[in-house]
Amino acid sequence: MTEIAAEAVDGVNETVGEKASGGAAEAVVEVSRLLKQVDNGGEALTILHEISFAVAAGETVAVVGASGSGKSTLLGLLAGLDLPSSGSVTLAGENLAGLDEDARAVLRGRLLGFVFQSFQLLPSLTALENVMLPLELAAMPDARARAEHWLQRVGLGHRLRHYPKHLSGGEQQRVALARAFAPNPRLVLADEPTGNLDAATGHQIIELMFAINAERGTTLILVTHDDEIAARCARRLHMHAGRIEEIA
Ligand SMILES: Nc1ncnc2c1ncn2[C@@H]1O[C@H](COP(=O)(O)OP(=O)(O)O)[C@@H](O)[C@H]1O
Ligand SMILES: [Mg+2]
Repeated sequence: MTEIAAEAVDGVNETVGEKASGGAAEAVVEVSRLLKQVDNGGEALTILHEISFAVAAGETVAVVGASGSGKSTLLGLLAGLDLPSSGSVTLAGENLAGLDEDARAVLRGRLLGFVFQSFQLLPSLTALENVMLPLELAAMPDARARAEHWLQRVGLGHRLRHYPKHLSGGEQQRVALARAFAPNPRLVLADEPTGNLDAATGHQIIELMFAINAERGTTLILVTHDDEIAARCARRLHMHAGRIEEIA
């Protein structure tokens, strides 16, 4: 099938999720015809094929799909950590294309929390300092008290001064949850947050994340391989070889 025929069949240029968001709720994320190509030894390799979708405030969205289908690339583009070849990402009405790197970092600090598979805590900082860092970068008042509160919320009130290497994987991911939610973000992006954890620990982390998310009313985009976790989200987007489709 030619590229054009494939697109016609997939309907990839229609914005997935416009119905789900009802048109009335404010979109926190708007992705329009997002194309990501990389140079592969002189040839353009397409990682994302002009995908479009919108996520309304407070929605929980699972992104599922095989390894290599473009999920992490998409999240990096949503966060403005990576730039598209064409197309746009708009976060809370702000088109990332109009912002330089520094302005994107400021916007991330104001709007976004990120939870990674590999936790990504800073090894030279204690649990408390890891959670304080984004609060201080955003010049939020009472960073220490706020960070302590959040570490208590994730069950780590007794581990404030521990360094990441002295915490278990599950504990590190709890710190990462506290760090993501403490600045009161509009949107949390989580990229396989249970991928490096055993099943029981992963289950606890997911329960905690959904509980905090419900308390805060945060918009959540969660990449997962776990169908049970995906089923807990209000919407599911399936990625297949760089294309996206809403599934029931
Ligand atoms: N910078 C890059 N250069 C070349 N290929 C890349 C680059 N980043 C990602 N890819 C490729 O793009 C595809 C999607 O990757 P990724 O977004 O990490 O997938 P997923 O998170 O769904 O496993 C993979 O085939 C990966 O090898
Ligand atoms: Mg990935």
